[in-house]
Amino acid sequence: MRLDKYLANSGLGSRKEVKTLIKKKKITVDGVIVKSDSFDVKEGVNHVFYDGQEIFYKEFHYILLNKPQGYVSAVEDNVYPPVTDLVPEYEFAKLFPVGRLDVDTTGALLLTNDGDLCHKLLAPKYHVDKTYYVEVDGVMTNKLIKAFKSGIMMDGELTLPGDLVILSEHTGELTIHQGKFHQVKRMFQHFGLKVTRLDRKTFAFLGHEDIELGSYRELTPEEEEQLKEIVKN
Ligand code: URA
Repeated sequence: MRLDKYLANSGLGSRKEVKTLIKKKKITVDGVIVKSDSFDVKEGVNHVFYDGQEIFYKEFHYILLNKPQGYVSAVEDNVYPPVTDLVPEYEFAKLFPVGRLDVDTTGALLLTNDGDLCHKLLAPKYHVDKTYYVEVDGVMTNKLIKAFKSGIMMDGELTLPGDLVILSEHTGELTIHQGKFHQVKRMFQHFGLKVTRLDRKTFAFLGHEDIELGSYRELTPEEEEQLKEIVKN
């Protein structure tokens, strides 16, 4: 693999930035300064160092974004900026969002370039939990708790049991285990309630409480493992 690709995928910097580091003779391979971007690095065989630190190649990247309103959950769009615009440092990795949050929805959105994991996390059979903070234009009553638990008809089938916790007249927290198009809005709409604010607090066990709106963080190796564990069987 080319040295510049190896370095960029390790998260050291953009392709352009790592080329500059190479030019500045900051990179060694097996103890020797390498000045060529296209130097052929053998992953797991050669030892690449920058500034006294070994640099490891990483094929897959996992980012948790706290999505703000006004961004579309896609890699390109004709109307709104895509969420990938919020992670320019990861352009090299060609990340894509795991599922969709509406343009006006905020909150936890996983981005990755691991297509296999993405596919599994979205597969109905794994029932990954998603918890939403919801505000509606009417009154949330206990009737909703019961109805969401039993499931409501959507796209010709009953939704899986959802758990609604009512926080106040107009606000609640809803946990669902599937991801139909506009599911939360449609569940409330079923009872004549319009969702006026929607924030995904957690996707699986990943919450955005430590991430500012519009910012993101890399998952820890433990979190990556935990996610893979969810979809193992
Ligand atoms: N359900 C919705 O209706 N919208 C979202 O963005 C996510 C879940």
